[in-house]
Amino acid sequence: MNRFACVLCGAVAALCLTMPGVYAGPKPEVSQRPWGVTSDGQPVELYTLANGHGMKAAITNYGAILVSLEVPDRDGKTGDVVLGYDKVEDYIKDSPYFGCIAGRYANRIAKGKFSLDGREYSLAVNNGPNHLHGGLKGFDKVVWKAEPVRRGRVVGVRLTYVSPDGEEGYPGTLTCQVTYGLTADNALVIRYRATTDAPTVLNLTHHSYFNLKGQGEGDILDHLLMINADRYTPVDDTLIPTGELAPVAGTPMDFTRPTAIGKRINEDFVQLLRGGGYDHNYVLNRDGGGLSLAARAYAPATGRVMEVWTTEPGIQFYAGNFLDGTLTGKDGKVYKHRYGFCLETQHFPDSPNQSDFPSVVLRPGETYRQHTEYRFSVR
Ligand code: BGC
Repeated sequence: MNRFACVLCGAVAALCLTMPGVYAGPKPEVSQRPWGVTSDGQPVELYTLANGHGMKAAITNYGAILVSLEVPDRDGKTGDVVLGYDKVEDYIKDSPYFGCIAGRYANRIAKGKFSLDGREYSLAVNNGPNHLHGGLKGFDKVVWKAEPVRRGRVVGVRLTYVSPDGEEGYPGTLTCQVTYGLTADNALVIRYRATTDAPTVLNLTHHSYFNLKGQGEGDILDHLLMINADRYTPVDDTLIPTGELAPVAGTPMDFTRPTAIGKRINEDFVQLLRGGGYDHNYVLNRDGGGLSLAARAYAPATGRVMEVWTTEPGIQFYAGNFLDGTLTGKDGKVYKHRYGFCLETQHFPDSPNQSDFPSVVLRPGETYRQHTEYRFSVR
């Protein structure tokens, strides 16, 4: 019988009509346990979600970090497909944003400056001459409030963080909610919601480094990747978009058809040289504002497939170019060059300074919403 079928009527779980609401398959579960303390003594927890169909996710309220994600391969064997650490202390000590929610502004803002309603704001410059991922103490380094959630066959954890007015230089008290959920059909769903009491800018994303062979099991150059984007935003030599939306066609940036990540990554193409490989925002092809397919990655070695669906206009494809073997992660695995890749759904980098890019301004009375899904299957 299909693993996803109701044991009473045989229908797939979502379509079970025999006893709606009393689907008799394995039960999804969410549990929590203490997971250490931050350097200033705040207790941290680890939430474990199990969907009853072979998928498990562990999420900590420190940085809203996805610590592990267990997914079956084509033989039904589960493996952890995200890079990270075994202990919160290691995330605190040195993490290249493994698995976190990056904010308030994910990716770069040129020179750490932007103007809004005629006022100039200055942010920390923490990446060459630019501001990156929210500054010195971004959303990846704060403790979120957490509560388990259960809705039908979906189990999850809801994380809330209230960022005070002026935190890291950003205006407005920002109330943020991020909910991670696991569905019965093997999707990790991330829903974002935020409101502000003064005009501000906002761009949230999820920053997992994926390896569909399993974390620490080699580089990701053999993964086949499709990105549903005919254009991307080329960058200058500090990785700030030039403002152009350039066609991918005829360049090594083109992933409109499934292509091995490693096939062209070392080509002598100025954009790749600037990023040390792929580290670019793609302008997603979309019709309307709903959930649409952004990317699909496939690891021939394990058969795992991951699709990314989102409501966002862009996706950052980062090929783990800055991993260099100096970080030792879960189970003592050493993370070498390009051992993980990120697919970060987002607004375009440096949008606060680029009036032709979709707006990232959030005003009082408005609600920021984002919905992204990482859907897993096998081939
Ligand atoms: C950026 C990279 C950066 C990485 C880790 C990505 O989102 O695009 O340039 O190195 O995050 O910080």
